[in-house]
Amino acid sequence: MAKPISIEVWNPSGKYRVVSTKSMPGTRWIKLLTDNDCRLEICTEKKTILSVDDILALIGDHCHGVIGQLTEDWGEVLFSALKRAGGTAFSNMAVGYNNVDVDAANRNGIAIGNTPGVLTETTAELAASLSVAAARRIVEADQFMRAGLYDGWLPHLFVGNLLKGQTVGVIGAGRIGSAYARMMIEGFKMNLIYFDLYQSTRLEKFVTAYGQFLKANGEQPVTWKRASSMEEVLREADVISLHPVLDKTTYHLINPERLAMMKKEAVLVNASRGPVIDEVALVEHLRANPMFRVGLDVFEDEPYMKPGLAEMKNAVVVPHIASASKWTREGMATLAALNVLGKIKGYPVWGNPNAVEPFLDEKAAPPPACPSIVNAKQLGNCYIPA
Ligand code: GLV
Repeated sequence: MAKPISIEVWNPSGKYRVVSTKSMPGTRWIKLLTDNDCRLEICTEKKTILSVDDILALIGDHCHGVIGQLTEDWGEVLFSALKRAGGTAFSNMAVGYNNVDVDAANRNGIAIGNTPGVLTETTAELAASLSVAAARRIVEADQFMRAGLYDGWLPHLFVGNLLKGQTVGVIGAGRIGSAYARMMIEGFKMNLIYFDLYQSTRLEKFVTAYGQFLKANGEQPVTWKRASSMEEVLREADVISLHPVLDKTTYHLINPERLAMMKKEAVLVNASRGPVIDEVALVEHLRANPMFRVGLDVFEDEPYMKPGLAEMKNAVVVPHIASASKWTREGMATLAALNVLGKIKGYPVWGNPNAVEPFLDEKAAPPPACPSIVNAKQLGNCYIPA
């Protein structure tokens, strides 16, 4: 017999059985569920990534909803098991949901929640941090200090790139890409070039206004340009940050040909999804171009890095922590719990998944709605105006 999965139980007599595959930050999400007649079971297994079999064991034969993680493989097997157990709701504790087979969820009538609206600034801040860390060689310099190698100031020591007046390139100027662009423009007075299928009028207006402000203060104004191709961004920008969603069209968006188009001293940042970059090609490029630098939060075969990446001094690597601020992670937990609770209670779906503040106000009861259900239309759920 398979080993039972260890869990922690809250409100054992609750009418609705909700499973969370991981402990999540904060306590509000627990209170919201248990105050609303849910029996909450939180998986306490030590291993980081649960297998499909582990999750099947957690679902069991009676389960109303599950809160899961982006490391889990949510497809037909799990959604049909959840349906058989009487469940109708799943929420990823993430804004991205490339780990979820939405068609399989639709076939099984399971609502899929995600957590937009709370990650934007936090993720953009990490992308900005990676940009600066890579441009100014901060991690290399830190390692040098700790190794006791610093024996005095030198004119050539850890010389990097000045950002001011250079061009920041953004591929995918949605919520996070636009917030990142603003940080780099406001913070470092960089010019913008972006590529997106949609025009980002708000971002363009912001750069124009900021440019006018700088000019009025006797400073060099910043400028913007909407590129007609991604290649134009790759050729022209000094720092490039990737913010697309991962799908068939963005898999290996950065490949050997596109790496070759970039400036030899460019900085490339990825806090979106690992497979957007051909990581084997990237290692090769880093090896051949020591002045080219990357800042990576995500990896093609997460949690692993492709051979050679860990040895590259011109790479800054962090373990998928872009959304890891306390406020954001607690907000994500709250939204994921409310997605599942709302579906169990038969609530409608919130009309604007980016305007989720009313769900985060600790002093008031959240609106009777699911904050964000990505397949609401397919399931015929109704919306309420936000
Ligand atoms: C994190 O990567 C997310 O998609 O929320």
